[in-house]
Amino acid sequence: MSSKLTQEATAAAAAVSADRLWSTLMAMAEIGARPDGGVCRQALTVEDREARDLLIGWARGRGYGVSVDPAANLFVRRPGRRDVAPVLAGSHMDSQPAGGRFDGIYGVLAAFEALVALDEAGIETERPVDMVAWTNEEAGRFACGCTGSISWSGHAPLEDFLPVVGTDGVVLRDALEETLAAAPDVERIGLGSEVHAYIEPHIEQGPVLESKGLPIAAVTSIQGLRWFSVEVDGRAGHAGTTPMTGRKDAFQGALRAIEALNALMADDTDTVRFTVGRIEVEPNSPNTIPSLARFTVDFRHPEEAVLTALGDRVADVAAEAAAPCTVQVTQTSRMAPDAFPETMVALIEDAARSLDLGVIRLASGAFHDALFTAKACPTAMIFVPCRDGISHHPAEYAKPEDLAAGTRVLTACLVELANRI
Ligand code: HGY
Ligand code: MN
Ligand code: MN
Repeated sequence: MSSKLTQEATAAAAAVSADRLWSTLMAMAEIGARPDGGVCRQALTVEDREARDLLIGWARGRGYGVSVDPAANLFVRRPGRRDVAPVLAGSHMDSQPAGGRFDGIYGVLAAFEALVALDEAGIETERPVDMVAWTNEEAGRFACGCTGSISWSGHAPLEDFLPVVGTDGVVLRDALEETLAAAPDVERIGLGSEVHAYIEPHIEQGPVLESKGLPIAAVTSIQGLRWFSVEVDGRAGHAGTTPMTGRKDAFQGALRAIEALNALMADDTDTVRFTVGRIEVEPNSPNTIPSLARFTVDFRHPEEAVLTALGDRVADVAAEAAAPCTVQVTQTSRMAPDAFPETMVALIEDAARSLDLGVIRLASGAFHDALFTAKACPTAMIFVPCRDGISHHPAEYAKPEDLAAGTRVLTACLVELANRI
């Protein structure tokens, strides 16, 4: 295949160092490290701030500009010849509570490695090339995923997220203020800075690339999602003295509701994704009948119509099944499915082929910040394989050579885009 890349793009890609990238990933993985090999670096926590400090130190060490917006999205700039809208690359800083060492942070550090590779190759681009670390994509602590990229893209105001209470009882507003206050000397910029284009490298979090023995996927689209919080209210009572007849056991009500939702979401094409990932019971005592049960619903599908048809029935199905307990259902997030522009998908494909890397097109089952940047600028994603497709788990692993290959494709694409005026 003849290369479609300019010489500069090819030279920049060749300057990517697998070792240097791996060492930054492993240094970052020490922050919030878990004994089982995973990481816990939840949004706006002490660990998140420590990771931000490390990244800011690296950026300043290379003379790059560092800035932060009101959502604590962190930007690092490598200047270009012209003071025009930059090309942006990155992903999210935060992890799941029992997360892996690559989800999110790989995209951030691949973008950082791309900036360093440009330095190493002595390349000056027309446009600036920026790296971004988005705030609270995972929503493990604050149940409003993609807080940073949604408010940056203007899809929803940051104010909508500020009152959200975290699993530890901390209000997002306070955690955000604390995170911003911890970096007083970082330049403040407004939300929604203009961007020419955005690329997000990410581990696939699925088994396809590994099973095909391919290093790269050009991501075509991201499926949609609806999150609900279901609260089942019953009546507390003594476990020993209260007859079974007439009980209003909230946990039993929740179990019936979950079973009924399983039936609602049953899909022999295996396209629907339905998960109850968290359940809380009060008063959570072995010898007291539960008065309250609260569980989460994560429902995903590539078609908006199905998200509406099935999602709109969640409240009724849960209420009918949980009776005589009563049910309150709150939708906590909705993300419409979206596709990336053909020109951007083709850019990733062409760059991979020009670098002699096998590439396929893949849709994403996971959501990403790119789903929201796509509403503000031309956006693309690059997937690299992860072992057994495992993610959101301490055993998450990706090979240094695959991580570097994805970074080479990223770097080449950034040069191509940054020299288009
Ligand atoms: O849940 C997701 O799809 C993303 O990994 N946070
Ligand atoms: Mn992710
Ligand atoms: Mn994730």
